[in-house]
Amino acid sequence: MADADLKRFIEKVEDLPTLPRTVLRITELINDPRASAKDLSRIITDDQVLTARLLKLVNSSFYGFPQRIATVTDAILLIGFDAIRSLLLTTSVFDLFPSRTVRSRRDQEMLWDHSLGCAVGAKVIGGAVRHEKIEELFVAGLLHDIGKIVEMTLLPEDFAQIAARVAERHLLISAAEMEVLGCTHADLGRLLAERWNLPVKLVSTIAWHHTPMAAGAFGAEASIVHLADILARALQLGSGGDDKVPALDRAAWGVLRLKPSSLDEIMAAMLDEFEDISSFLR
Ligand SMILES: [Fe+2]
Ligand SMILES: [Fe+2]
Repeated sequence: MADADLKRFIEKVEDLPTLPRTVLRITELINDPRASAKDLSRIITDDQVLTARLLKLVNSSFYGFPQRIATVTDAILLIGFDAIRSLLLTTSVFDLFPSRTVRSRRDQEMLWDHSLGCAVGAKVIGGAVRHEKIEELFVAGLLHDIGKIVEMTLLPEDFAQIAARVAERHLLISAAEMEVLGCTHADLGRLLAERWNLPVKLVSTIAWHHTPMAAGAFGAEASIVHLADILARALQLGSGGDDKVPALDRAAWGVLRLKPSSLDEIMAAMLDEFEDISSFLR
């Protein structure tokens, strides 16, 4: 990207909203090895909206606990600190981007479904490859295209041009972004994720979900999100901004060591889980 363009973006990114203070405090607390479930519970229960969302989610079929979970402390003990952080980030992020027009509201809803499809995909693939941090993968999937939200809300004229080029010439959205902006949503997503001080692993999966072999130490996670993105598109869960299914990176496929025959099962599980969770996150 040319220097002048980069400067223009950084100026725009300066206008971006910040994460709610409660979520930032929770993230800090979770990074503190001395923090207890009680400390965390105290912060969450101060915020009625977060408390209600958390209890609704832990009681959803997504977790499938047989008994009702009535308190925040029980929820924390049952699903763990990392999962709590993931859930709260998940439910907070999309609130930050109010859509201004009916057109952009529809685009955002389609993108939300695509993101949720990718999140569920990352979770299912993570299970299939026995990844240890399934919750992190879910959030990585959910946030992978956050750069497109930046375009829709902060660069609406550019985004309209990108959408027009995609429609007229059947381009991949990344190709149209390169023509119009000189960078892609993955670059913009990285800027936003860094500004929010998200964990490095999350910044990497957002930055490299289309080129997972560039993710270095986080190649496995970026490869999982990369495949999940492609499967969410193949299943037509929402829309990532174009109707194409990008090519699977061969090296990323090699990293995952999945059998081609397992894809049917993965896609069936994605459809099931997508239905389950989408009703709880609306
Ligand atoms: Fe993407
Ligand atoms: Fe995507």
